[in-house]
Amino acid sequence: MKRRSLVLGGAGAALAAGGAAMLWRPNDMGAPHNAYFSKLNILLKRDGPGRPVMLLDMDRVNTNIDQIAGSVGIKKTYRVVVKSLPSVPLLEHVMQRAKTNSLMVFHQPFLNAIADAFPHSDALIGKPMPVSAVNTFYRKLGNSKYDAASQVQWLIDTPERLNQYQSLAKQLGVKMRINFEIDVGLHRGGLPEPEAVRPLLNIIKEDPEHLQFTGLMGYEPHLSGLQAALGDPSVKQVLGVYKGFIDQAKSAGADIDKLTLNGAGSHTLGIYHRDNTMNDLSAGSGVVKPTDFDTYHLTDNLPAIFIATPILKRYDELKVPGDLALAKLLPLWNPNMRRLYYIYGGYWKAQMVSPPGVPDPIYQSTNQSPVSTSAAVDLKVDDYMFLRPTQSEHVMLQFGDLLPFRGDQLLDPWPVFHQTG
Ligand SMILES: Cc1ncc(COP(=O)(O)O)c(C=O)c1O
Repeated sequence: MKRRSLVLGGAGAALAAGGAAMLWRPNDMGAPHNAYFSKLNILLKRDGPGRPVMLLDMDRVNTNIDQIAGSVGIKKTYRVVVKSLPSVPLLEHVMQRAKTNSLMVFHQPFLNAIADAFPHSDALIGKPMPVSAVNTFYRKLGNSKYDAASQVQWLIDTPERLNQYQSLAKQLGVKMRINFEIDVGLHRGGLPEPEAVRPLLNIIKEDPEHLQFTGLMGYEPHLSGLQAALGDPSVKQVLGVYKGFIDQAKSAGADIDKLTLNGAGSHTLGIYHRDNTMNDLSAGSGVVKPTDFDTYHLTDNLPAIFIATPILKRYDELKVPGDLALAKLLPLWNPNMRRLYYIYGGYWKAQMVSPPGVPDPIYQSTNQSPVSTSAAVDLKVDDYMFLRPTQSEHVMLQFGDLLPFRGDQLLDPWPVFHQTG
């Protein structure tokens, strides 16, 4: 149990300030579940497992896939970001609907799972992996139908790493496709300037038996917060740097038309609809739209994942651990603290979405968390509350199988990836 002393301290000081505090008095923001969440509440009370679950609204998922695929257009490849949608059936659904075979993978166990589940997919690795993880991947691959030599592009950020991969390729007697991570302004690593391309390409050219150059990856989420359009100086800057790398690769003899020129993510993909610098755009989170993705280019995407959790206890007054006076005073100041519920679990990377108007909790617990509400919220024990995850990649792995639904029907559960394996 982590005590939110800041919240208590702040609230206590405000109350001590008497009249001044009343000037800042919060409005009553509480309300019952709307029609959408009332329907889900009824559905889960009827058919749910009685514990916290991760729901997936399949109609909204489909809207979001269509939105992203439409934005990528038919001339470029839409690459699905596996870590942000960490479930084989979910990925299969996205790949089928968006008609793409291309994945971006960030974790060795997920890559092995992909090789098993989608033996014909094409995987670009999204971060430079330790060479020992690459070794583990090959060891676990065994006699799989998956042809890593033609289906994986390993991401390389330095000559040292390329040398390590080359040694492993020689040792295993395999050929590796190599994509260069390039720094287009994020400054999270990768080749720092176009001139760094040539020495790497020289290593690759000299060992065609084990290495093949297949493209560039330049990620630019620093454009996320902006209402960025193609004409914006920040976007022009990113594309200018990207073109510099392409020119270098061309002048070192690479066949540009055959390369995977990857970039973007859910936040920024919408910028490039009319630009052809990159031919391969990634997105994952925008399919389910957690709260961190309430950003400009995803305005037409809809929140499609929710944590639903049963209410364990309800009190028609506030209770504060050990502090009776504060429990009496706080609800006078904040009408959103007149009722107290305890939910099953808590402390997720998530924000309460229904009921609305829930203030920051006094403390959080992963076992049972308090949720205070206004008197306008009249839920019962065993009713459900709903939260929106702030991000998908970690939170979606915390609940066991995902629970997809359509209309007022729960569909078959979808397993998520294992973190190891
Ligand atoms: C290299 C790279 N590309 C793309 C993405 C975009 O993923 P998403 O669309 O889930 O934000 C990420 C996210 O971390 C990334 O690291």
